[in-house]
Amino acid sequence: MDYLIRSSRVIDASGGEILDAEVDVLVQEGRVAKLGAGLAAPKGVREIDGRGQMVVAGLVDLHVHLREPGQEYKEDIESGSRAAVAGGVTTMCCMPNTRPVNDCRAITDLIIRRSKEVGIARVLPIGAVSKGLEGKSLAEFGEMQEGGIVAVSDDGRPIMDAGLMRRALEYGKTFGLPVVQHAEDLDLAEGGVMNEGTVATRAGLRGQPPQAESIMVARDIELVEWTGAQYHVAHASTGRSMDLVRDAKKRGLAVSCEVAPHHFTLTDAACASYNTDMKVAPPLRNESDRQALLQALADGTVDCIATDHAPHSEVEKDVEFDCASCGMLGLETSLSLSLELVNDGVIDLHRMVYLLTAGPAKLFSLQKGIGTLAEGSPADLVMFNPEARWVVDRNKTQSRSKNTPFHGREVPGQVMLTLFGGKAVFDPRGLCQ
Ligand code: DOR
Repeated sequence: MDYLIRSSRVIDASGGEILDAEVDVLVQEGRVAKLGAGLAAPKGVREIDGRGQMVVAGLVDLHVHLREPGQEYKEDIESGSRAAVAGGVTTMCCMPNTRPVNDCRAITDLIIRRSKEVGIARVLPIGAVSKGLEGKSLAEFGEMQEGGIVAVSDDGRPIMDAGLMRRALEYGKTFGLPVVQHAEDLDLAEGGVMNEGTVATRAGLRGQPPQAESIMVARDIELVEWTGAQYHVAHASTGRSMDLVRDAKKRGLAVSCEVAPHHFTLTDAACASYNTDMKVAPPLRNESDRQALLQALADGTVDCIATDHAPHSEVEKDVEFDCASCGMLGLETSLSLSLELVNDGVIDLHRMVYLLTAGPAKLFSLQKGIGTLAEGSPADLVMFNPEARWVVDRNKTQSRSKNTPFHGREVPGQVMLTLFGGKAVFDPRGLCQ
């Protein structure tokens, strides 16, 4: 089916000049065929009234845990893809900490094959840096790249060994793969279950200092300077990390970072309730770190917003705070929480769209046409009402898990329609039927 979305505010942040205009979007044969005011409707096209809505490229999320293979009781590629498109996300890069780990071509192939069978969102795997995520020897980057990985990471665990990190950067550079670090010095973190500070002390929970993250970032930047490789900080959460990335960029190094909505929205105060949905790695930080993230989102230090969508079941979460697994859902709430930043005057709409679409696509050199609405691109797009508000409900997630830290929060921005390759993959109002 072809579609003509009429009179929405269309924003595309992929070009040098940002497109922001009230135009029609013609979708034909799975592609964005034309953008323009008052387009004539070709025969057989379904017209959709887009007045009062915004249309942007399908969101690109560089940091998602889909749990397949191995932990399908938490999430699988199908439920994760459904959660993604409900949140307007049409391209996801999935982390390799599955069971077995995605450290070889066979697992990369399996993930890509399964995601094509599901066929409602694009899944681009990230391969492991080390075999079995054990931090000892490098996985086969070349083999996994032939399979389709777009980056390498041991996410969930840091690459603690500086020698291994050096080799990962060297090989990553050879293959043109960014190395994504879960920056956490485990010796400094000392098993802390939340951020170190007064809230942890009062709650009687062991804290880990923000320096556990920034010391790792500082070390890695030294290695990037040496090797000239591309390095990306996953879920960066501290002001000091932002200073280090900002400075590295000024020096022309290929250093980038992402920030997760939970880190720019919540603080460690949320852990005082012992709600295990607030437990995440890296932990929710204090207000001054959060303010530093907001500053870095605004000044260009942050390259993209990524969710670190990490589903866990009640088996892992309905336990004491100390014992609970780290992680939060994110796919269905990232657009709304990013819109909060716009409503609060932290960033403007253009920057928000960039951070959720063209920014991440550029960072991992994703194929042409992803993160853009340029004519000829695959018709991956999301139409949303920026004014409509909704209440996050853990019992209504598309994800197989319920561990959202935002349960009960009223947020702006309701997704009305998501198209993937011109196909309606989320259409709660039946606009395409
Ligand atoms: O909180 C987290 N959960 N942080 C990570 O880095 C990994 C993730 C997971 O896989 O559950």
